[in-house]
Amino acid sequence: MLTIERVAEMQAKAESYRKEGKRIGLVPTMGSLHEGHVSLIQAARARSDVVIVTIFVNPTQFGPGEDYERYPRDAVRDQGVAEQAGADVLFMPQVGEIYPSGFATFVEVEDVSSVLEGRFRPNHFRGVTTIVAKLFAITKPHVAVFGQKDAQQAFLIRKMAEELNFDVSIIVAPIVREADGLALSSRNVYLNANERTRATSLHRSLRYAESLVMSGERSAGKVCAGMSRILSEARPSQIDYIAALSPESFSEIETFEPPSALIAIAVRFGSTRLIDNIVIPISEKREAS
Ligand code: PAJ
Repeated sequence: MLTIERVAEMQAKAESYRKEGKRIGLVPTMGSLHEGHVSLIQAARARSDVVIVTIFVNPTQFGPGEDYERYPRDAVRDQGVAEQAGADVLFMPQVGEIYPSGFATFVEVEDVSSVLEGRFRPNHFRGVTTIVAKLFAITKPHVAVFGQKDAQQAFLIRKMAEELNFDVSIIVAPIVREADGLALSSRNVYLNANERTRATSLHRSLRYAESLVMSGERSAGKVCAGMSRILSEARPSQIDYIAALSPESFSEIETFEPPSALIAIAVRFGSTRLIDNIVIPISEKREAS
């Protein structure tokens, strides 16, 4: 596996892959790689000839008081994990290489950037869409893989790619979970043992919502109230939101309707903020006979 730190070198390498007729798959990450990231690398591997994994803890997507400084970083371990998972190139630039002094250009998807996660993390998605647009320009991928774990991020990246005519297909891979249901996240290391146990309530509440909807409940208010009860029993420090959404528009819904709905939650245990979601298929009501 090749490790590249310079933008110009990465662009030249990507260009040479393209000239050789190779299909480039991209997996952007902030490092501290876990099995969720590994699944994305494997999904890229299955769809391309060369896989480029990027590791960059992107300062523009962290708000003041967030965990930019303490975000876990372990380049040596990550190199091993990426290579083992099937990466051909690891692109790991320094901050100054990506944001030289005087940098002033940002990409922003309006509206959906400021709801849910965006309401609690102003400017977060502006930082995400800017870095992902830059990574597309630097690595010239044919296909880029993102995780459903960050459902709103995946939605916004897909919208940005479509509206800015990036010639790249966006793949969204399923959420990888621990055996007890907790979605893998680089931030799970912040949880102490007690919080880690209580954090299983996120997945429990989502599974409960799924079972209610599957058994015919169509009121989003009732389902979210039930989820709120389950989450509250785990004594979180805060429930930021519990939202039932249309996966097509990311707008909130009051009634579950076919073909599917997305339920997204953000909950804090101590100072650690966790997000999770579930897509629930919804069938047509059977006609009364
Ligand atoms: P990061 O949190 O490192 O996540 C990198 C990718 O891994 C994202 O697409 C994320 O959705 C996916 N991922 C994280 N946990 C996952 C899990 N449990 N199962 C499946 N996929 C998972 O998301 C970012 O970095 C950044 O915002 C980035 C897109 C790299 C831009 O800086």
